[in-house]
Amino acid sequence: MIILFFQLLPRDGHVTSKFENRSVADLRAATCGTKLKLAGYVQCCQVLATTNRLRYNEHTRGSLMPQLTPPKIKAFKNEGRKIAVLTVYDFPSAKMLDSAGIDILLVGDSLGNVVQGKPTTLAVTLDQVIYHAEMVARAAQNAMVVVDLPFPYCQLGAEEAVRAGARILKETLAGAVKFEGGENRAGTIAALVEAGIPVMGHCGLRPQEIRQTGGYFVQRLKEQLFRDIQAVEQAGAFSVVLECLEAELAKEATQAVSIPTIGIGSGRHCDGQVLVFHDLLGYTPEPSPALKHVKQYADLHTIVSDAVKQYAEEVRNQKFPADEHSFS
Ligand code: KIV
Repeated sequence: MIILFFQLLPRDGHVTSKFENRSVADLRAATCGTKLKLAGYVQCCQVLATTNRLRYNEHTRGSLMPQLTPPKIKAFKNEGRKIAVLTVYDFPSAKMLDSAGIDILLVGDSLGNVVQGKPTTLAVTLDQVIYHAEMVARAAQNAMVVVDLPFPYCQLGAEEAVRAGARILKETLAGAVKFEGGENRAGTIAALVEAGIPVMGHCGLRPQEIRQTGGYFVQRLKEQLFRDIQAVEQAGAFSVVLECLEAELAKEATQAVSIPTIGIGSGRHCDGQVLVFHDLLGYTPEPSPALKHVKQYADLHTIVSDAVKQYAEEVRNQKFPADEHSFS
């Protein structure tokens, strides 16, 4: 009988609403003439509704979970509520960040640097960001998930960008893409927004142009920056990252647009801040001092190295596994 009811029930998480307003006769009819008592039927529905809802949330995260959306993020600026953003690339880390109240989880192309160990972000592929974004977005229940359009999808024009952005939204549960570029690529941002793909802009230092610029420099040129952020806003982006701007310039830029600015290395006056997960936690391959723009909140390099050294030592001197780690 359970199997029969399971087949009757829709699998999209709206089970209770489907049966909510049905008369007793309807419900009897829905049992396909079986002799099951109505009370038992309703109880069965309730159990399965709960099971389905849990399953729905766990695997597809659907509309039952309130997630931050572009309008809500934009409203934070008017409310004077600062926005906390972190990069993240895997499921367990994303779960922790989401539970800790991070507003936006950014699957940045910085994964090229901090996960793949490469010197720039240029080699990161669309398939790779999708692979990471799928894990992160499945973990996120409250935060919005934003995914970098990797090089060269911001540079190839509207059609390629929309194709890439659509793949990200179709193959992951992410809510938006991040787009490096300003005035010169505003048309592509507008095409993404028009296609229903929310965009977080990225102006100031643009790591995807490292070969052109020759280095990661503090940005001080006001006129071009203002043209860029205003073009990004007019194209429909819901927020914009300002990377490595002189702090006073970032303050003026934040006042010049109505969308939230998310700073990295751009001082305290931005509407929000973003840091790279590994930088924040000191999760680096070598013991290295924090970069100027980073506050290191933990020293995972030391914690991980010490734990792993102790493990290796205990394996070699047969302290691990002890009796409590063994089955009898
Ligand atoms: O890729 C990334 O992590 C970023 C942030 C540094 C903003 O773009």
